[in-house]
Amino acid sequence: MPLDLPADRAEEARAILRANDRGGYTVPSARMYPFQWNWDSPLTAIGWATFDPDRAWREFESLVTGQWADGMIPHIVFHADSDGYYPGPDAWGTDHAPRTSGISQPPVAATCLRRLVDGAADRQAALARARPLVVKLAAWHRWWHETRDPAGSGLVAALHPWETGRDNSVEWDAPLAAVEPRVDVAALRKDILHADPSERPTHDYYNRVMTIVELGKSVGWNGTAFFARSPLRVCDLGIQCLLLRADEDLGVLARELDLAPVATQLAAWRARSLEAMARLWNPASGAYHSLDLLTDRLARSVSVAAFLPLYAGAASRAQADTLAATWRQAMTACRFGTPSTMPSIPGFDPRRYWRGPVWPFMNRLVADGFARYGFADIAERLRRDTRELVAQGGFREYFDPFTGAGLGGKDFSWTAAAWLVWAGVDAA
Ligand code: SER
Repeated sequence: MPLDLPADRAEEARAILRANDRGGYTVPSARMYPFQWNWDSPLTAIGWATFDPDRAWREFESLVTGQWADGMIPHIVFHADSDGYYPGPDAWGTDHAPRTSGISQPPVAATCLRRLVDGAADRQAALARARPLVVKLAAWHRWWHETRDPAGSGLVAALHPWETGRDNSVEWDAPLAAVEPRVDVAALRKDILHADPSERPTHDYYNRVMTIVELGKSVGWNGTAFFARSPLRVCDLGIQCLLLRADEDLGVLARELDLAPVATQLAAWRARSLEAMARLWNPASGAYHSLDLLTDRLARSVSVAAFLPLYAGAASRAQADTLAATWRQAMTACRFGTPSTMPSIPGFDPRRYWRGPVWPFMNRLVADGFARYGFADIAERLRRDTRELVAQGGFREYFDPFTGAGLGGKDFSWTAAAWLVWAGVDAA
């Protein structure tokens, strides 16, 4: 069906990517996030691929220049100086060139790389260019499955809320309450100069998360020591599911590249992670949850990550039906889906960062998952909601699920990419 919004939105989206290009990597938002972010980058690259495939490849190639010797791909690569962001490279105190942060972020790169290969005009040339990236991404997946799951439980750990990408989700309230703040960084913050403070995390939150950064620094960012000593250790449902999906997608590329041992290893990790998903399901809530690995307690909150097991292909038929009912129930309270925290959850806030607002790129992942399980109506509703949000609010970072008001940063790269690859594209 033809859609009814201005065609030049696509040109606007492309202009945002070009304006946020820093020569081989894309900043998420020019003023607010002036470096390369791990999970923004591949999700943005697929937007580049719609009009400049070579530029899309370079996005991946620049991201992996941040990879550490232990396989970790950091959540920020500080390719060039900028004083517009806190915490910058000095606050992290890591030892790598280019300079990086000391933590990681959700592993979406392999899935986006597969999409790039699948969309390439010359598949053999694309596979050849993908080969070194596949090897590097496999080393990163190993880091998740080994350094962040030393017991081989099938559940990988995040040690810092920013690793989850859903920084201040209600899921992290209880684990963070156990982190005694040892620093006061309120005066150092820059984020609240670029966005309304009521749409950003609190000072108390920043003091706690920067306390974890100090701990990481104190152990020289050694992966094993950081895992053992971090005061926060959670299995984030988001990372767990995105890694499951990424293991599958990387395995497809590895097989096609005749990297048989890599493909076999990925399949084994995936099988182990799939089995462990049972620990995250709560029949009483009709949802999956994140797990506090230090207390062995499931988060009470139901977040947008609750639907990512569909994206990962990890839900049973019955669970998928229950998740669809959970989603529909949440949507009785919202005008626009999908809220990052369900409105019935204590702590929900429709305007504050990951405590309620809608993220366009996340809607794409949730829609993909529902479509995978046959819920085409939910997938299409999400696409239309996203389209309307961006059409009336612009390419903002996130949106109020009740009013549709645009929030957070402006001219956001992954919002523009979500438009180019999905929200702004006519339904098939
Ligand atoms: N999203 C974080 C921030 O707000 C860091 O990844 O700075």
